[in-house]
Amino acid sequence: MAKMWLDAACRSLGLKAKEIRSEQLGRLVGQLSASVKVFVRDPHAQRVCLAELERFIGPAVRAVSSPAPTVLLVATETDVVVARGHARKLCDQVGFSETEQVRVATVVSELARNMVMYAGGGKLTLTALSEDRPGVRVVAEDQGQGIPDLASVLAGRHRSKTGMGMGLIGSKRLMDQLDIHTAPGAGTRVTAIRYRR
Ligand SMILES: Nc1ncnc2c1ncn2[C@@H]1O[C@H](COP(=O)(O)OP(=O)(O)OP(=O)(O)O)[C@@H](O)[C@H]1O
Ligand SMILES: [Mg+2]
Repeated sequence: MAKMWLDAACRSLGLKAKEIRSEQLGRLVGQLSASVKVFVRDPHAQRVCLAELERFIGPAVRAVSSPAPTVLLVATETDVVVARGHARKLCDQVGFSETEQVRVATVVSELARNMVMYAGGGKLTLTALSEDRPGVRVVAEDQGQGIPDLASVLAGRHRSKTGMGMGLIGSKRLMDQLDIHTAPGAGTRVTAIRYRR
């Protein structure tokens, strides 16, 4: 009976029971709960079934849908490389394609390198976004001097000092959202999001 429900729930979500990825568990549980409500008429038995479902799959779903963010202190070029690796790994866990993983990892190196070069280091927070719209959020914050002329950087008038990176403007193009808060002497915070395709 349980197998039948599982197969039916997978079919309706277009999934294969043997190939379910952890981040798809949430949707599956939603579908299974709906089946319980339809097929189990007795309210008491319904509560028992839902409680069982929660007991078996609930902890796994919660662990996947709200994993702790990765917080990294970045002060050297080695930290930048480590941050890049973490970004790729997180994107992989969220189900990003290889190309998408590289895209986000590139932005993470870019932001991390800027913090090292211009702000004496800073903090990176990488977060997997929830089930409704899976994605990855990157926050790079530092307490440096701030970006002197943000308007001209965003307008594309800034000339890259190294000519090596994508720069902030290139990073903005690579992500779905990228917002910059900066103030003279008060540091910089860049928040960027890429959703899974
Ligand atoms: N975290 C930061 N703190 C202070 N200033 C910053 C920070 N990030 C960027 N800047 C300033 O903004 C400018 C533009 O940064 P951007 O990353 O676009 O280009 P770049 O670092 O000069 O060159 P590239 O990234 O292409 O190697 C930098 O030259 C720097 O003056
Ligand atoms: Mg840069």
